[in-house]
Amino acid sequence: MSGFEDFPSEHKVEELFEAARAVQSRAYAPYSHFLVGAAILTPEGRIHVGCNVENAAYPVGSCAEAGAIAAMVAAGDLRIGVLLTICDSTDVGTCCGGCRQRVREFAALDTPIYACGPSGVRAVFTMADLLPVSFGPDNLRGFVS
Ligand code: THU
Repeated sequence: MSGFEDFPSEHKVEELFEAARAVQSRAYAPYSHFLVGAAILTPEGRIHVGCNVENAAYPVGSCAEAGAIAAMVAAGDLRIGVLLTICDSTDVGTCCGGCRQRVREFAALDTPIYACGPSGVRAVFTMADLLPVSFGPDNLRGFVS
């Protein structure tokens, strides 16, 4: 369960959008110049944000979603109720493959994921849309003590 009866209210989406837009402006992306912001709303109502942080050793850079997840866990929350990302690409920019798996760890299959551009929401997906037939914590139940 995502912890939401349905998709979040328009007001909550706006709040998440503003949080993601603010953190996007602080992204450190001197190599790609592609700034990304991510905002997580937990079922408890808290918002955690992250931006991409690149590195001169390119593969060491991290995505905005990874930053938001790290902030969420550091704050003591372990569930993603809604995820919203924002980037400036001209078409729909969704989470990269690696981040889909990162998000899957803390999301439900019906968790809404909003993909935004500079002027608002461009598309809405569920976790299962972005990562069908996925591997998650449940698959390890009984194997890891
Ligand atoms: N990026 C993210 O932050 N999230 C994604 O889901 C896609 C890509 C970042 C990584 C890199 O800093 C830049 O965007 C270009 O790929």
